[in-house]
Amino acid sequence: MHANVLKMILKLALLLLVLEQSLCYGQPANFNSTMSNIRRFPDFFMWGIGTSAYQIEGGWNADGKGESIWDYMVHKSPAKILDNTNGDVSTDSYHQWQRDVQMVKDLHVGTYRFSIAWTRILPNGFIHNVSQAGIDYYNNLIDELLKYNIKPMVTIYHWDMPQRLQELGGWTNPEIIPIFKEYARLVIETFGDRVKLWTTLNEPWHVCEYGYGVDYMAPAYNYPGIPSYLCAHNMLKAHAEVVHMYRDEYQERMGGRIGITMDSAWHEPKNSDSVEDHEASERTMQFYLGWFAHPIFSKFGNYPKVMIKRIRALSKQQGFGSRSRLPEFTPEEIQRIKGTADFFGINHYTSYLVTPNDANNTGNFPIPSWNHDMDVINTQEGVDWPTSGSKWLRVYPKGMYNLLMWIHREYDAPNIIVTENGVSDRGGLEDYARVDYHNHYLSAVLDAIEDGANVMGYIGWSLMDSFEWKVGYAEKFGLYHVNFSSPERTRTPKISAKVFANICKTNALDWNYRPKLDGTTDLV
Ligand SMILES: *[C@@H]1O[C@H](CO)[C@@H](O)[C@H](O)[C@H]1NC(C)=O
Ligand SMILES: *[C@@H]1O[C@H](CO)[C@@H](O)[C@H](O)[C@H]1NC(C)=O
Ligand SMILES: *[C@@H]1O[C@H](CO)[C@@H](O)[C@H](O)[C@H]1NC(C)=O
Ligand SMILES: *[C@@H]1O[C@H](CO)[C@@H](O)[C@H](O)[C@H]1NC(C)=O
Repeated sequence: MHANVLKMILKLALLLLVLEQSLCYGQPANFNSTMSNIRRFPDFFMWGIGTSAYQIEGGWNADGKGESIWDYMVHKSPAKILDNTNGDVSTDSYHQWQRDVQMVKDLHVGTYRFSIAWTRILPNGFIHNVSQAGIDYYNNLIDELLKYNIKPMVTIYHWDMPQRLQELGGWTNPEIIPIFKEYARLVIETFGDRVKLWTTLNEPWHVCEYGYGVDYMAPAYNYPGIPSYLCAHNMLKAHAEVVHMYRDEYQERMGGRIGITMDSAWHEPKNSDSVEDHEASERTMQFYLGWFAHPIFSKFGNYPKVMIKRIRALSKQQGFGSRSRLPEFTPEEIQRIKGTADFFGINHYTSYLVTPNDANNTGNFPIPSWNHDMDVINTQEGVDWPTSGSKWLRVYPKGMYNLLMWIHREYDAPNIIVTENGVSDRGGLEDYARVDYHNHYLSAVLDAIEDGANVMGYIGWSLMDSFEWKVGYAEKFGLYHVNFSSPERTRTPKISAKVFANICKTNALDWNYRPKLDGTTDLV
């Protein structure tokens, strides 16, 4: 058959697919009073709310805590943060943890997702010097949660590498693998009698590409095209070693589950009837999410084929010889990493439109770089997706549905936990935009469940306003407002806290539930 005819048929098929999608999976049928306004979740559905250590704890050097890469960066280069702030005190959860647990309890969630600060337990990162004060802090927090039947879900690494280890190269140094494993062993041995849900790493894409490839997250190496691939390689191996250790030595006795949390936007083809844009969309999903998910969740293991092929070819063109900038796994390593997760943790916030970069490098990507290797242009230009004060977080609930279904198809129906989802604004207690966001995105989760995706739970982001990394305190993600001028960092529930509590308590969405502020302390 003529190639053009084939192309036409393919375009037609894609168009039909898109049409069908717009019929079946349009915007949630909300605000139609003649339809049912209540949508239920499966009985087993797990509800949670999340935070991370550096964003909330404060006490950056309290009781012997060591320096992390975030402590180091914000002190050395305050201008790297939009409002020149830092997490030195933040919401002061190092002292206010009992209040935090009260809030988690009031939200009626069954699970609290938080992370352990490596340097609070091991001040210089190594195992020789254990801080009892750090151990005590997390023991108290965990015991307080259990008092109210709230299950702790612990992230072992959420971006705060000990500075002393960064000086050895951090995640780009393969020695990090045994060092991380020792830290993880200490954490599991100390807390594993009570913690039954673990994620090894949070958002490795952000750690590697935003930390090493560009000047964004700490340590902000700004060294494109090489170290981010080394970082990912070592993170994947370190993750696998910790999961094997847990399964071999602890899981039977402790009975918990262990996985990993990755992040991905949904990358939508810019023109839905363009074959090239569909290819670009798929390539972006593979470079962004597949980079980490494929070695663990694909039945073939290893990096996505499209990454291996493109980066090898470009490396050769660029004079790197026969050694690809993307490191190779041995067959043994591929087997060792494959299958090392009891669940697929995914953080999701927003979507982009994708189109291929062109021969003129209109995307203006450095050569070499991860972006140039992927060679697509991601944009939100021209979309009518609303935002409530964020430069990047535009609301497109269908992206959640599409992402969950992509994961479902690509990795053979894994058990998925949405480990983060939420929206930022510029403040205020009457955050109806956040209410709408959660309702719409949860409705998209339900659509995906109805279409077969094994979504086991949803963890909202975030419990309260906190240090939002590069934008400091300018953007708020909290269900609870925090008064950062008060010594107690007074926490006040927003409207969204009431709505989220109602969802968790009833295990259902109710489009009509739009409470007002009434100053009461009980949320529902
Ligand atoms: C609301 O739902 C009813 C029943 O499904 C339907 O007949 C009606 O057209 C809908 N109205 C709107 C405005 O969508
Ligand atoms: C252990 O860490 C504490 C707290 O940071 C520090 O004061 C002490 O010097 C460290 N001890 C060793 C042996 O490194
Ligand atoms: C690349 O730039 C040249 C010169 O500006 C232009 O003629 C050509 O059409 C461009 N090609 C693409 C693919 O954009
Ligand atoms: C925040 O706390 C400060 C200091 O306690 C207080 O003066 C101020 O009124 C509080 N702001 C709000 C909005 O409650």
